[in-house]
Amino acid sequence: MRRLVLLGVLVCTLVLAGQTLALAAGPHDALNCTGCHSIHYAVGAKAFAVNNDKVANPRGDSNVGGVSALCLGCHEETKNGGAGIKPISVHRTHPIYLVPNNKIAKVPPQLLVNGRLECTSCHDPHPSNPAYRYLRVDTKGGAAMGAFCAACHPAKVDLASYGLKSQDALPIFSSMDESKGALFAPAAQITIHNETPNYIKPPQAQQTNQQTKK
Ligand code: HEC
Ligand code: HEC
Ligand code: HEC
Ligand code: HEC
Repeated sequence: MRRLVLLGVLVCTLVLAGQTLALAAGPHDALNCTGCHSIHYAVGAKAFAVNNDKVANPRGDSNVGGVSALCLGCHEETKNGGAGIKPISVHRTHPIYLVPNNKIAKVPPQLLVNGRLECTSCHDPHPSNPAYRYLRVDTKGGAAMGAFCAACHPAKVDLASYGLKSQDALPIFSSMDESKGALFAPAAQITIHNETPNYIKPPQAQQTNQQTKK
């Protein structure tokens, strides 16, 4: 009998552990780290494996660069320098790669990369992120999308309907601080973008990053 109980506990533990893992499982798992980070042949900062700097930004006079150029290396049409994987058109996308007008969006400074809104302001693409579409806010599989918009447009969201007291209380996901681990926490307590030295600057990428599409 005791053995049976022990076995039951073991099975339950295994099932629970399986569920926890399943929660975080998303398509970026298959990239196996090296799809985004090339250990010896990087073409961008933070050992990025791809860098698509050929996409003109409809909201600026330069091409889309920075961390967003990594994402567009896969998530753009092949004719625009991407890999055609779930391609998003920057011309039909919420503004990106710009310094925000504070009247249109009240963006917590941690969510900006060098002052700009980037793909990673809204998404934490690391496989540990359990949230729908790798968003930084848990939207209950998309059903509570307004809670996500509240991260930057709180004056427009009925916060109470999402059980939120204020924008500051909203739990935001970040995997960028190994001393804290991957977690959801109020914006003030998390790290979005580490100011690491970015010593990887291949001459080719450096040149093309300066150019704008004529
Ligand atoms: C979909 C692309 C993607 C995948 C897959 C990915 N990363 Fe990243 N990684 C990024 C991006 C983007 C950043 C930079 C974020 C920033 O600095 O804003 C980053 C940054 C990092 C950093 C630097 C953190 C810092 O403080 O500068 C480490 C370390 C890292 N990733 C490790 C990993 C490991 C390990 C895996 C596999 C489990 C992985 N990454 C998978 C996109 C990815
Ligand atoms: C090396 C290629 C690659 C890079 C770089 C990459 N992704 Fe992905 N991404 C994928 C693949 C593959 C999928 C799954 C596509 C599918 O399901 O058809 C995916 C899916 C996604 C999805 C949908 C997730 C879901 O639940 O369906 C999001 C959101 C996403 N990526 C965001 C990003 C962001 C943001 C970046 C940059 C920080 C990025 N990706 C960089 C390959 C990449
Ligand atoms: C303002 C926030 C925001 C920014 C900035 C942003 N995204 Fe997203 N993204 C979203 C939301 C919200 C969704 C989920 C939409 C849905 O499923 O209803 C999404 C979905 C996606 C998907 C999945 C699309 C699909 O059809 O499954 C991909 C891929 C993606 N984003 C890539 C990117 C890339 C690449 C960038 C930068 C060029 C980017 N995102 C910038 C908010 C953002
Ligand atoms: C991480 C911050 C952030 C999140 C989250 C976010 N936005 Fe934005 N949003 C911005 C910024 C920054 C701008 C551009 C402000 C400017 O024009 O300078 C913007 C602009 C907009 C605009 C105006 C677009 C235009 O062409 O002028 C709309 C509409 C919008 N957001 C809707 C949403 C919706 C809906 C959501 C949730 C699904 C959302 N945003 C989530 C930061 C964010």
